[in-house]
Amino acid sequence: MTTRDVRFPNHFLWGTATSAYQIEGGGTNTDWSRYELSEGTHAVEPCGPGCDSWNRYEEDLDLIVELGLNSFRLSVEWARIEPKQGFYDQEALLHYRKVLEACHVRAILPVVTLHHFTIPLWTADLGGFEHPDIATWMGEYAKVVGEALGDLIGIACTVNEPNIVALMGYLTGVFPPAQSSWERFSIVNRALRACHVAMRDALRATPGTYPIGLPLSMNEYEALPGGEDLVASIRHEMEDEYLRVVGDDDYLGVQCYTKIVIGPEGLVVRPEGELTEMGYLFWPESVEYTLRRAASFVDIPIIMTENGIGTDDDRQRIRYLEGALEGLGNVLRDGLDVRGYFQWSLLDNFEWTFGYRPKFGIVAVDRATFARTPKPSAAWYRNATSSFSY
Ligand code: BGC
Repeated sequence: MTTRDVRFPNHFLWGTATSAYQIEGGGTNTDWSRYELSEGTHAVEPCGPGCDSWNRYEEDLDLIVELGLNSFRLSVEWARIEPKQGFYDQEALLHYRKVLEACHVRAILPVVTLHHFTIPLWTADLGGFEHPDIATWMGEYAKVVGEALGDLIGIACTVNEPNIVALMGYLTGVFPPAQSSWERFSIVNRALRACHVAMRDALRATPGTYPIGLPLSMNEYEALPGGEDLVASIRHEMEDEYLRVVGDDDYLGVQCYTKIVIGPEGLVVRPEGELTEMGYLFWPESVEYTLRRAASFVDIPIIMTENGIGTDDDRQRIRYLEGALEGLGNVLRDGLDVRGYFQWSLLDNFEWTFGYRPKFGIVAVDRATFARTPKPSAAWYRNATSSFSY
């Protein structure tokens, strides 16, 4: 257990979330970039310039101010900070200092993720999450980030959705390194839990009083007859094993999007019901469900660090967010210790293998000029968060 003095903001956090690779552009020194540019992968197009947020971060932050939000979840790119093993790029760290300072100047609390899906090429070339030293490497990286940026971090997230990194990279084979083995999936999950602990402990040993936690992907699951055992084993690997190691963290991040239906043959790909652009079930009820499930495991504060919908129909997004905030209100009314909600995402950004087609943003981005245009859902979110009561 930590003896570190941890300070939570004394107000509810209303924010929006992004990740470096998906918006910054120029993340060429990563496993993802190489994957997108290789033949025969699941990636439909390369990320390229993203939303050019490496250069336009002040514009993004001004939008957040206009939206009346008090916090912003962003990530720093390991491949920029440690482009070669053991070499730390001071210019990249200085850039991120400027971004975090620009948040504080605007009274926006920066929620900083240290790892969001991408790894530097050198790490991938040495075996990535299957290398026995991966937790040591990520711990060292976290120490550097803590020392360089700790005084500016509002809240830290170690590894974004480690269970998705393991699932998509090592079981379904859709993300790099495109492997498909239950055994490797399980080994990588274990490695990622060790990475989280190493990063958390490294951050705790550096200056700062900000809370540190892990943002976990959670789902509501429905088992069709014959799918019960599979649901139990998926939940065990994807959620329960993580929820058992985060009890000593300062908070837990919960991220959810939908309900997953599992039959005896596995995942039901296009389940019956209203679907989103990603082919997911339209299921804002998952917010209430996952928050309650998380709270049944842990005794630490919870933050919903991601929730949203990919859709071209902004009215559908508003309906989704309405349902999500209703669920949030229900759990707050019941006394669950939930400290914040982060809508995914501020901008229409690079949606991994799907490229730029899915639209998760409350702000549209012109792919040619990078001009940002808030959608009606942005005004809706502003209004909903400023008048929220439960
Ligand atoms: C990830 C994001 C992604 C979002 C929507 C989350 O799993 O953290 O990077 O864009 O879901 O699919």
